[in-house]
Amino acid sequence: MTEPKPPLVLMTHTLPAEWISSLQGKCRVLLGPIDATAFAPHLLDQISEAQGLFTLLTIPIDRDILTRAVQLQVVSNMAAGVDNIDIAACTQLGIPVGNTPGVLTEGTADLTMALLLSIARNLPQASHDARTGKWKTWSPTGWLGADLSGATLGIIGMGKIGQAVARRALGFGMNIVYYDTQPKEDIPATLLSIEELLKTSDFVSLHTPLTENTYHLLNTTRLGLLKSTAFLINTSRGAVIDPDALHRSLSEGKFAGAALDVTDPEPLPLDHPLFQLTNCFILPHIGSATYNTRCRMAELACENLLAGLSGKRLPHCVNPEVYRGC
Ligand code: DGY
Repeated sequence: MTEPKPPLVLMTHTLPAEWISSLQGKCRVLLGPIDATAFAPHLLDQISEAQGLFTLLTIPIDRDILTRAVQLQVVSNMAAGVDNIDIAACTQLGIPVGNTPGVLTEGTADLTMALLLSIARNLPQASHDARTGKWKTWSPTGWLGADLSGATLGIIGMGKIGQAVARRALGFGMNIVYYDTQPKEDIPATLLSIEELLKTSDFVSLHTPLTENTYHLLNTTRLGLLKSTAFLINTSRGAVIDPDALHRSLSEGKFAGAALDVTDPEPLPLDHPLFQLTNCFILPHIGSATYNTRCRMAELACENLLAGLSGKRLPHCVNPEVYRGC
């Protein structure tokens, strides 16, 4: 009798071997390129044979791919956000989808504070000027920024990351207001409507997942509510802000500046008008980019994947409805 073949897993990107060592001997893994920007053709060729998909947030997993994956038992996304995956289609097809919440909370909150400090204190411009000969003397009026202490930080989306940002900001002496669909009792912060938050905050930080409800949540009208001195920080998903409205508001000086770790689209093309603005600081989606965080994300994604391949409940499942009746 021949042994049954271990399940086939299509991994859209190549990851360091030590991050995915728990898969060894338990499945056959077919890897995509390290810098894949689309589902690689050699993986797509095998899609009908695959039992598992291990994906990153940059690769759309749409209904077309899913319906071709006739043996698929699990999709495991190495990210907390799952907006790249057609979750409704997965649920309809009975495929559980895993994500990696929790492990990137602190790293993303750290980067949010780094952005907040950078934009408040003009660091990108100051650093550029120091390197390009514009640092002539200690200038009493040069590179002036805004204080954090006593300022109001408005947090949109007070989930795990929002709360981790609030804890840090409290340490800087900031007052916290927030908008969320659920009130949070255990953080000294005031719940406001989104409009009140935008009108009263000195800094606004976005920590909401991208869903139908949050797509372009900050549009022209809402951006128009920001104080002219306010700063906007986004480490969630680019499309939570309408990019055209953002560019217009920033170039017209409707508010002071934006610091973005996420954009729409990603990567932002080099000729994108946001890159022309000196009051817009842009990073290449590095909120979770610490060695330990990325390693934990990969491990958690492997745990979800292995659970799905063996028919067990995923430790972190975003569509638990698939287990209804089990
Ligand atoms: C996520 O996991 O959704 C983050 O955006 C990755 O940094």
